[in-house]
Amino acid sequence: MAPEDLRKLGIEWLKNERLLGVESLEVEEEPEMLKRVQHDSGVQHDSGVQYDSGVQYDSGVQYDSGRKRSKEEGLAAPSSPTTTPLLHSKKEKELFLYYESIKNCQKCPLSETRNHLVFGEGNSDAELVFIGEAPGRNEDLEGRPFIGEAGKLLTKFVEFIGLTRDDIYITNIVKCRPPGNRDPLPEEINKCRPYLEEQLKIIKPKILCCLGRWATYTLLGIKGSFSQIRGKIYPAPTHMGGINEEQSMKIIPTYHPAALLYHPGWKEKVKEDLILVKECLQSRT
Ligand code: URA
Repeated sequence: MAPEDLRKLGIEWLKNERLLGVESLEVEEEPEMLKRVQHDSGVQHDSGVQYDSGVQYDSGVQYDSGRKRSKEEGLAAPSSPTTTPLLHSKKEKELFLYYESIKNCQKCPLSETRNHLVFGEGNSDAELVFIGEAPGRNEDLEGRPFIGEAGKLLTKFVEFIGLTRDDIYITNIVKCRPPGNRDPLPEEINKCRPYLEEQLKIIKPKILCCLGRWATYTLLGIKGSFSQIRGKIYPAPTHMGGINEEQSMKIIPTYHPAALLYHPGWKEKVKEDLILVKECLQSRT
């Protein structure tokens, strides 16, 4: 890249940082910083996508500067909090920009008590997305989904179907921790739901595996006995988009991993559901 272009890129980046509320920067040694700018200059935001926050990302490079973030700003969700994310695919870039546009969300009171908005993480090209309820304490502290005890069990779910966490995407219905891990309130779910729907429009997975009642009731728009609802295949509502023009995403609900901590006997049911997920992933329809 020509030095003049690099300079313009740097100025653009600084403007964006200021728009995001940064007053001062911790500056790294120059060569490393330049390397990073050059690396990121490969990022093209060609769509001029207008995201929820009203921020238009139409030209510049958005990336984590490596500075320490304040509690309010949150972490760079799709990647490690303190390093520049390596944004390889178009979907990864779109997810990252979307995260940047919502990470300071204040649409509901959960923003007042959270440490981090937990956006989600994993493979932006995943065919399978696991959707939980809301971040817990560990997730809120680290800005990453399912990293506590329930997360360890979720990793086992994933491995049971022959995949790793790098193959799938993981997120929640509600992105901020409800105090004391209480159930999310309907108004919190309603405010947060568009974020999940936008993530799914970017990823376009084949299957959504809803973990527990809240994710399932929210996405299917139905209520009832969860033991009757789980373990079946449902088409995702049409407004959520599909894998392509013809095919809708499929929803398969199963028990939340945290529920297995209290009801180990439900493990066999979860295995049945996961086998269904696997068969569905392997089928062409
Ligand atoms: N439980 C959830 O539903 N989500 C998390 O991220 C962690 C625990």
